[in-house]
Amino acid sequence: MDQVGERVQAIDALGGRLLAHGPMVVCRGLLDDPSTWRFSANAERVLGWPVASADGLATWLERMHPDDRGGFEAALSRVLSGKADQAELHMRLRQADGDYRWIWTLMRTEQDDATGQRYMVGYDLDVTDRMLAEERARRQNQELERRIRDRATELENANATLRAVLEGIADPVYVKDADGRYVLVNSAAAGSVGLRPEEYVGRTDHELFPADVAGHLRADDREVTASGGPRRFRETLDTPEGPRVYQAVKAPWRDGAGQILGVVGVSRDVTEQERVEAERRRLLERLHDVQEDERRHIAIDLHDGPVQGLAMLGYKLARARVLLEAGATEPALALVGECEADVAGEVEALRRTLRDLRPLVLDQHGLEVALHDHAHGVRERAGLASCRVTARLGGRRLDPSTETALFRVAQQALANVAAHAGATSAEVLLERSAAGEVLLRVVDDGCGFDPSHVQTAGQAGAPRAAAAGFGLTAMRERAEAIGGRLTIRTAPGKGTTVEVLVPGDPQRPGARP
Ligand SMILES: Nc1ncnc2c1ncn2[C@@H]1O[C@H](COP(=O)(O)OP(=O)(O)OP(=O)(O)O)[C@@H](O)[C@H]1O
Ligand SMILES: [Mg+2]
Repeated sequence: MDQVGERVQAIDALGGRLLAHGPMVVCRGLLDDPSTWRFSANAERVLGWPVASADGLATWLERMHPDDRGGFEAALSRVLSGKADQAELHMRLRQADGDYRWIWTLMRTEQDDATGQRYMVGYDLDVTDRMLAEERARRQNQELERRIRDRATELENANATLRAVLEGIADPVYVKDADGRYVLVNSAAAGSVGLRPEEYVGRTDHELFPADVAGHLRADDREVTASGGPRRFRETLDTPEGPRVYQAVKAPWRDGAGQILGVVGVSRDVTEQERVEAERRRLLERLHDVQEDERRHIAIDLHDGPVQGLAMLGYKLARARVLLEAGATEPALALVGECEADVAGEVEALRRTLRDLRPLVLDQHGLEVALHDHAHGVRERAGLASCRVTARLGGRRLDPSTETALFRVAQQALANVAAHAGATSAEVLLERSAAGEVLLRVVDDGCGFDPSHVQTAGQAGAPRAAAAGFGLTAMRERAEAIGGRLTIRTAPGKGTTVEVLVPGDPQRPGARP
């Protein structure tokens, strides 16, 4: 053996020893003759079974996992046919115990320098641990992705629920961050200033409202975050429908750790409530004035009428006594006769006063009869050609408070006809619909008026008890007090129609139909 040959053998022997303890199997042999294939000594340890040079391709395939056979055969044929210099793939090989081991394999063809023959070299490495670790990592990744997806769905659902709740609330609801920027608003909040929620979010009060308003809102928010607890505020905002007053409840918005992130608030529009309350206060004051007025009138009536009459009566009776004492029977009797007529006159005057104070006929005979009675009086006093009453209640009585309210409305309306309309005729209609609604209508053919030019007692700025008329306001109040609604239709030269519609069935409880 020459020196070179010895060296090659020595290197081979060294290589064989190294391979015997290493993880990689090396095999080599002629392309077309499996019997020439040689495997490194670690083949059985790494591949899991004793490799014999007689093992043909069929033996390999039989030990291979069925799913990996196709890939292996394709790779092999690529290399054997010379289409590729080398091919690599992962495959599973069955062990003696039936378990599979993952093997990475690289096959390539090379040329023997000495003989010029092409032969094949294969490298096989057990990568089971790595493949299992990768498989585990893949499963963990999938599990993680699934959990993230589930979490995202949960969040989406929670968001949808929150949205539904927010949108279900008719009051404006909002959340602002520490800089006062809106991060969440419902449609009611955005709509109150004529915006859509997405236009509102991201803006501050200073971008949405005039500086002074925004300043107030910001100060309220600061008070909430400084106090760390909920607070109530009365806030006024400019809206497309004019200034609105809100009763706001604001509380700190905190993260999971309790750190304050901003402010969450709910605002209730109390504009109407405050207006009604102010109106009620004004009306109460007005009512007080009216009562005082009435008392004064009654006092004057009694003073100028019955009191003067009775004083005169006393004087006449004293005169009659003097005449009788003096034996002047004739003139004395004449005076007593006068006194009788005077007493009858005073009684009639007192009855009239009483009738105005509280028409007894209303209690005794009900609304229909009271209206007939009253209309008759108005026709005479106002010199109307006619003042007809048409009642279609079928003789049924209404709830006493409804009867009183409707009578007072008719009384006020007819007083206005007498005082302002210059009408020739008026008509009162009282009827009940099948649904139980009761309608009272007072129509005159007089001069009419422009309601927008009438200053009523209920209006802001109207001087109390002075020029402002109380009649229209009182009619409206009375109608609303029994759950009804007052409508006035009029225009200059067009006559006037006053209507009250009372819903439901205000039939007097216990009354027989
Ligand atoms: N039927 C009507 N025809 C023409 N004008 C009317 C009629 N009713 C009301 N008005 C007008 O509306 C105004 C307000 O009426 P309202 O009853 O409120 O007050 P008033 O009659 O002036 O005073 P008060 O009723 O307090 O004694 C009247 O002053 C009058 O100008
Ligand atoms: Mg009036």
